[in-house]
Amino acid sequence: MLSRRARRRVSEPTRWHPASVALHWLTFLLILFQFWVSGPMLDEKRDLIARFELYQLHKSVGLTIAAFVLLRLVLRVTLSQPDPENQNPWLRRAAALVHAALYLCIVALPISGLLMAAAAPIQIPTLYFGLFQVPHPIGPNPAIYQRMLWLHDRLGNILIVLGSVHVAAVAVHMLLWRDGLLGRMWFGRRWL
Ligand code: HEM
Ligand code: HEM
Repeated sequence: MLSRRARRRVSEPTRWHPASVALHWLTFLLILFQFWVSGPMLDEKRDLIARFELYQLHKSVGLTIAAFVLLRLVLRVTLSQPDPENQNPWLRRAAALVHAALYLCIVALPISGLLMAAAAPIQIPTLYFGLFQVPHPIGPNPAIYQRMLWLHDRLGNILIVLGSVHVAAVAVHMLLWRDGLLGRMWFGRRWL
C-alpha cells in the first residue's frame, strides 16, 4: 500500500508539459530579442523611419510575450505540474519566490510598455505586426507617461537580476547537485 505522498508522486509528471516548455523557451528568446532591439530603437543617430519600425516591432513582440505568459499561467493552473525539485523547504520557498517575481516582471513589462505608449505626449498608434491597431487604454498623460517610462526601465533591470539568479540556480542544480533539473524544462515522453 503506497503512502499518500508516494501516491501523489506516482501520479505527478516528472517534467513540465511540452506546451509549457515551448512557451518558456519562446518567451526567453523573445525577451532576449526585446533587450537587443531596444538598443537600435532608442539610438537617436538612426533614421526616424527605421526607428519607428523598430518601435512597432518591440511593441508587437512585447504584446506577444504578454499573450504567451497569460497562456502559460492558464496551463499552470489547469495542468498538473512536477513536484518542486528542492527537498529543503527554504530552497523551495526561495525558488517559488524567484519564479513568482519572474512572472510578475514579464506581466508588468508589457503592461507598463503599453501604458507608456498610450500616455506618450506624441501619439503613435500601436500596430500589431502591421495587421491591426491595438486600442490604447488611456490617452496622453505626461505624469503617467513619466511613471511608466521609469517603471519599464526599472523592470527591465530587475528582470536581468532575477534572470541571472534563475540561471545561476539552474547551474547549481546541474553542475553541483547533478539532479538534471534542466531536463524537466525540455521535451520528452516522461510527461504523464
Ligand atoms: C516583456 C516584454 C518587454 C520587454 C522585456 C521590454 C524591454 C524594454 C527595454 C529593455 C527597453 C529599453 C530600456 C528603457 O526603457 O529605457 C524598452 C523600451 C521601450 N519599450 Fe519595452 N519591453 C517589453 C514590452 C513592451 C511593450 C508591450 C511595449 C508597448 C506596447 C513597450 C514599449 C516600449 C517603449 C515605447 C520603449 C522606449 C522607452 C523610451 O523612450 O525610453 N515595451 N523596453
Ligand atoms: C528571462 C528569461 C527567463 C524567464 C522569465 C524564466 C521564467 C521561468 C519561470 C517563471 C519558471 C517557473 C515555472 C513555473 O513555476 O510555472 C521557470 C522554470 C524554469 N526555468 Fe526559466 N526563465 C528564464 C530563463 C531560463 C533559462 C536561460 C534557463 C536555463 C538556463 C531556464 C531554466 C528553467 C528551468 C530548468 C525551469 C524549471 C524549474 C523546475 O522545474 O523547478 N530558464 N522559468
